[in-house]
Amino acid sequence: MDLEDVVLEAESDTQGLFDDLLSGEPIFENKEVLRPSYTPHELPHRTDQINQMATILVSALRGETPSNILIYGKTGTGKTASAKFVSQELESTSQKYDVPCEVEYINCEVTDTQYRVLAQLANKFIEKNERVIADRLDTYRELHSNALEDPNVLDRTEFSTAEAVASRIAELEADAEDMEEVPMTGWPTDRVYSTFFDAVDYHERVVVIMLDEIDKLVEKSGDDTLYNLSRMNSELTNSRISIMGISNDLKFTDFLDPRVKSSLGEEEIVFPPYDANQLRDILQHRADISFKPDALTDDVIPLCAAFAAQEHGDARRALDLLRTAGELAERSQAETVSEEHVRQAQDKIELDRVVEVVRTLPTQSKIVLFAVILLEKNGVHNINTGEVFNIYKRLCEEIDADVLTQRRVTDLISELDMLGIVNAVVVSKGRYGRTKEMGLSVPVEETEAVLLSDSRLGDIENAQPFVQARFDN
Ligand SMILES: Nc1ncnc2c1ncn2[C@@H]1O[C@H](COP(=O)(O)OP(=O)(O)OP(=O)(O)O)[C@@H](O)[C@H]1O
Ligand SMILES: [Mg+2]
Repeated sequence: MDLEDVVLEAESDTQGLFDDLLSGEPIFENKEVLRPSYTPHELPHRTDQINQMATILVSALRGETPSNILIYGKTGTGKTASAKFVSQELESTSQKYDVPCEVEYINCEVTDTQYRVLAQLANKFIEKNERVIADRLDTYRELHSNALEDPNVLDRTEFSTAEAVASRIAELEADAEDMEEVPMTGWPTDRVYSTFFDAVDYHERVVVIMLDEIDKLVEKSGDDTLYNLSRMNSELTNSRISIMGISNDLKFTDFLDPRVKSSLGEEEIVFPPYDANQLRDILQHRADISFKPDALTDDVIPLCAAFAAQEHGDARRALDLLRTAGELAERSQAETVSEEHVRQAQDKIELDRVVEVVRTLPTQSKIVLFAVILLEKNGVHNINTGEVFNIYKRLCEEIDADVLTQRRVTDLISELDMLGIVNAVVVSKGRYGRTKEMGLSVPVEETEAVLLSDSRLGDIENAQPFVQARFDN
C-alpha cells in the first residue's frame, strides 16, 4: 500500500454528517444580501422618489426647516429602504460640511405609544448631548489649564479670563448632571415631552424625525404624538424639527386631527408598485452579489419577478422567492437554481403565509374554519352557511365554547373569505332567500394540522360523528 492510498482511506473514514453538504459547490456567494435586514446601496427605479426626498431635505443642510413629508406606497415598494438610504446620505453630508443636522429613525410598529416614541427620542438626544458636552469639556479644560500658565491664549477666544472659562466648565458640568434618561415606563407623559423638548433644544440643529409605519402608531395610540411634534417648532429656540411619516395604509390620515393632517402632509411622495421589468432589475442587482456566477438558469429571475408582480409589485416578495428558491436548490444539492425551484418556493411561501394566518386566528374563527374543513373532507361541495353553522354548533358544544349566532358566524365566514382562506359567493335560493356557498381556498391537510395544533381544537378527537349527524338531519 503506498502513501496515497493511506491518505485517501483516512479521508473517506472521516466522511461525516456535513461533508456531503459541504462538498457540493455552494449556490450562494452571500445569502445575507437577499435577507430583509440587508440595506442595499443602490435602489434601481427609485431615483425619482429619492430625489424628491433629497430636494425637500436639503434645506436641513442650509440650517432651514424642511417641510414635513408623508410617504405612501404599498408593502414592499422600497419606502423603508429609500428612507434609510436618504437618511444616511443626509447625515454623512452634514458631517462633511460640519452642519448640525441629525436624523432619527423610529419604527412605530415596535415603538407604538406616545410615551415610547418621546422617550426613545429624548434618550437619543440626551446621549448626543452628553457627547457634545464631553467634547466641549475636554476643550475648555485644556484651555483653562493653558490660560492659567499664559493668559494670552485667551486672546482669540470668547473668554477674557481663566475664571470665565472655569465658570463655563462648571455650567457644562451642571448640564451634564441635569441630563436624566427617561425610564421605559413610569413618568407622566408631559415630563417625558418636556425632557425631549429640552434635549433637542440644547443646541442649534435641524432634526429630521422619520416615523416608519406611522399608521401603526396612530392606530394604537391616536394622533397626540403627531400633534405634539408638529407644533414644537413654534416653541423651540435653538433647534427645528421636521417629520417624515411613512405608511403603507393610505387611509390612516382620515383619523388625524385636520391640523395634524395638513401639517404632516405638507409634501407627499408616492411609491408606486414595481412592475415585472423593474422587479427583474432589482433582483438582477442582488443576484449578482448573492449567487455564484452561473448559479441561476435564465428563467429564474423573470419568473420570480412575474410572481411578485402579481403580488402587487412587492420587491420583498420577489427577494424572498429568489432566496427560498436558492435554498431549495441548495438543499436538493442541485447544481443550479431552476424554474422548478421557483415554483416550489412560491408554494412554500404561500403555505407559510396560510399557516401563519390560520395559526393566529381567534378561536371562534378557527372553529368555523374547522367546520368547513370537515364538510369538505366529506366530499361536500358548495357548502352553505347553514351547514357550516350546524357543525360549528356541535363543535362548540364539544369543546365548551360559546355558540355565536348564525349572523356572527356569517360575518366570520366573510372575514375568512377576505383573508383568502375560504372562497365564498352569495347565491340566491329563489323564494328561500340568499345564502353563501363556499369552498376552501387553502390545502386541507396542512390547514387542518394547524387547527388541531391549537390546544382547544386539539381536544376534538373524532369529529366524524358531527359530520355524520348532518346527513341524518
Ligand atoms: N428599488 C429597490 N432596489 C433594491 N432593493 C429594493 C428596492 N425596493 C425595495 N427593495 C428591497 O425590497 C425589500 C422591501 O423593501 P422595503 O422594506 O423598503 O419596503 P417598504 O415599502 O418599506 O414595505 P412595507 O410597507 O411593508 O414596510 C427590502 O429588502 C428592500 O431592500
Ligand atoms: Mg417599510
